[in-house]
Amino acid sequence: MVTGKGGTGKTTVAAALALALAGRGARVLLAEVEDRQGISQAFDVPPLPPTEVPIVSYDHGGQVVGLAVDAKAALLEYLQLFYRLGRAGGVLERFGAIDFATTIAPGVRDVLLIGRVYEASRRRVDAKHHRHSDTSPLAYDAIVLDAPPTGRIGRFLTVGSEVAGLARMGPIRAQGDSVNELLTSPATRIHVVTLLEEMPVQETIDAVAELRGLGMAMGAIVVNQARLADGEDFPNASARAWAGAGAVADLTDWVDTLTADLPTVGIEPKPALVTGLVEQVRDHAAREDLERTHLDALQQLELPIVSVPALLDGIDPDALREIAGLLTDQGMAGRMTARATGRGTGGSR
Ligand SMILES: Nc1ncnc2c1ncn2[C@@H]1O[C@H](COP(=O)(O)OP(=O)(O)OP(=O)(O)O)[C@@H](O)[C@H]1O
Ligand SMILES: [Mg+2]
Repeated sequence: MVTGKGGTGKTTVAAALALALAGRGARVLLAEVEDRQGISQAFDVPPLPPTEVPIVSYDHGGQVVGLAVDAKAALLEYLQLFYRLGRAGGVLERFGAIDFATTIAPGVRDVLLIGRVYEASRRRVDAKHHRHSDTSPLAYDAIVLDAPPTGRIGRFLTVGSEVAGLARMGPIRAQGDSVNELLTSPATRIHVVTLLEEMPVQETIDAVAELRGLGMAMGAIVVNQARLADGEDFPNASARAWAGAGAVADLTDWVDTLTADLPTVGIEPKPALVTGLVEQVRDHAAREDLERTHLDALQQLELPIVSVPALLDGIDPDALREIAGLLTDQGMAGRMTARATGRGTGGSR
């Protein structure tokens, strides 16, 4: 599950994580539940129907299958599957019952959305024998869910217990219990995407507390669009010291240094240019200090922190592959791969 404050990069990170897992040979379902068509936009493919569509396939068998889960389609499928209501589904639709269930009845929509993903997580396939049993391989090695934002994630993930609470026994109770069991099992990990800014960091901290309270297993904190340079490329320490000092004497020093140095690389040290550069370095350093404070706060959560830089050309399939590589390098695709090798053994997920 990938959550985070709105606009922080949930869809981007979920798509890249799916690619990272598929790159290591897993059959991955990448699902979204927000009616946003975020996945098709990220991969630059036509809008996804409410059915599973292969998006990326590797020669070695790794695959990303996309699914834009739709509550209405999920309800009709559900009725068809459990009650064989093929035509009756159409009748219910005409009477507005489907709209009622998916948009008006509170909570039912989330139940349908998560139920659809749950169904995909249990599905078994056996291509060879065209039939399946409890020992057939699972259809997917991993499922990556581009989940609702932090503000709604707790409610979204407790739908299983709510449904279970509606009935003491019977199929509804059983379904609710199983969804809940999957969500709170260690097989489900919740990753939180954030920017190093006050609001998303605060929402991240709140969400981690809420989700831990609900018994969910947390994954990584993904710091997206990180600016903090940790290589040799930017003289962080000196720039920070300099911005922190802020004394006129230091500024004059830098103005003098730049005025002397710029001509050596063929640039005329016009005063406006020099002051502009000095201001930029100062802003950058101040911002970096602020980001460091936010990073410190995130470190208190004692979860793995994974960072993704801001990619200047925006997000396209190449950028997703680049981010997938960064996630793999930072160990984010590792756990699932271990399970992917156990594919077909019918282990619990
Ligand atoms: N690392 C990055 N570098 C550059 N641009 C990025 C990066 N991550 C995300 N973006 C861009 O930021 C915007 C928001 O990203 P994204 O859609 O993934 O966020 P989201 O959390 O899914 O948003 P929403 O809450 O609206 O669903 C998009 O335009 C995306 O292309
Ligand atoms: Mg999104």
